[in-house]
Amino acid sequence: MKKVLVTVVIVTALAIVFLFGCKNSSKVAEDKKIKIGITVYDQYDTYVSELVKCFEDIAKDELDLVIYNASQSQQTQNTQVQKMIDDGCSVICVNLVDRTDPSAVIDKARKNNVPIIFFNRELVSGDIGRWNKLFYVGADAVQSGTMQGEMAAMSCITDKSIDKNGDGMIQFVMLEGEAGHQDSIVRSENSVNALIEAGIVLDRVGYAIANWNRAQAQTKMAQFLENYPGEIELVLANNDDMALGAIDAYDAAEIIGSDRPIILGVDGTDEGLKAVRDDKMIGTVYNDKEGQARAMFRLAKVLALGGDISELSEEFTVEDGKYIRLPYAKVTAGNVNKFMKK
Ligand code: GAL
Repeated sequence: MKKVLVTVVIVTALAIVFLFGCKNSSKVAEDKKIKIGITVYDQYDTYVSELVKCFEDIAKDELDLVIYNASQSQQTQNTQVQKMIDDGCSVICVNLVDRTDPSAVIDKARKNNVPIIFFNRELVSGDIGRWNKLFYVGADAVQSGTMQGEMAAMSCITDKSIDKNGDGMIQFVMLEGEAGHQDSIVRSENSVNALIEAGIVLDRVGYAIANWNRAQAQTKMAQFLENYPGEIELVLANNDDMALGAIDAYDAAEIIGSDRPIILGVDGTDEGLKAVRDDKMIGTVYNDKEGQARAMFRLAKVLALGGDISELSEEFTVEDGKYIRLPYAKVTAGNVNKFMKK
């Protein structure tokens, strides 16, 4: 009898272990099976590619990822979204090519009940309101412009030699991102406003659209250097790649040291941070890719498992139940190491 009892206890114990074990491993298997699709507007965009790399690093052990490059074509991106739906993606992360034209993406998603996380390229509020399973992860463009202007102003106030011709004004050029992008015009405006608010008198020598692109920025900057030799005291670029393009133009023109203007960017890309560390850029504004990637990962998982977005509230603020915006941060030579280690 005792033997039978012992056997029953052992069998029961094994069954419990087996059941719990199974439950856990089937949970892991279930999570593993979650397929998340991503489509980016252009895989050669430095910041976006670093952001997606971050997302891959965070998500690859738990999610099955499919990543597409839309190569700057909204048509191609629409087709990719359909393909990801057909391939069984539970959630799709979309870095829109044309932020004013998300209709096809939204219609396909809604028809198939697949939630969409738009990121980095913000759609207008009328569009995001078209369905309750549309979300946006990004940052607040106003803040990035203001921070850039404040850093530039601080340099001008503390180092009078920046005003090379001593006319009491700062001659500057603005290198702008894509026309119509939420981060372009807003960064330019707020950067200039912050400088003016800090009491800096500005004299705009020129501005040029360089589409976030280093080579285009170099070409535009070379033109400015030819037209206004020795006059430019400050370069404000809407992103780091364009700031680096400006530096390339000075390198190519062999203008060195104190004959250069101060140059500021936004993003804190790997190359941008190095330029700050090496004193080629006076500062940049960190566009928190780790935070945005983490928000996308957590949101994608919650949506895929049919959970509630309130589960994210400990870590993120979700505005209007739809928007997660990560804060920017100022980066100078003084704190750049902290960001390089991220
Ligand atoms: C901005 C970023 C740019 C570029 C752009 C693409 O937020 O600062 O460098 O990546 O997004 O949408």
